[in-house]
Amino acid sequence: MPKIIIKNLGQKALHFDRSGQTVLSIFQSNGQDWMHACGGKGRCTTCSIEVISGGENLDGITDNEQRFMKQGKLLEGIRLACQAVCNGDLEVAAPERYKLPHLSYSD
Ligand code: FES
Repeated sequence: MPKIIIKNLGQKALHFDRSGQTVLSIFQSNGQDWMHACGGKGRCTTCSIEVISGGENLDGITDNEQRFMKQGKLLEGIRLACQAVCNGDLEVAAPERYKLPHLSYSD
C-alpha cells in the first residue's frame, strides 16, 4: 500500500489504497490536520507541501499552481496539497510558514 511520509512530523506515514486522490484528501482521510484556508479550491497557498522525494508520483502541475508560480508565491519544489494528485510513495514536509500551532514538528 503506498504511503505519504511527513518528514517533519517524526516521519509519520499515511497509507492510502487508491491512486488519483489529492495529497490533501489523503491527509484528511488519515485524520491528519493540514492547513487549507481556501477549503482546497486552489485559491491560497496555505496547503503547501515541500516535496522531499517521490515527486515523480505526483500528476503534473495544475493551472492554479502555475498561476502562483508566475506570481512568485509557489517556489521550486513546493506543491499545493489540494491540487497535487498522488499515485504512489511520496515524502513531504510542512513549510515553516504553514505549520499548525497545535502540532509538534520535528524540525
Ligand atoms: S487549500 Fe487553498 S490552495 Fe490548497
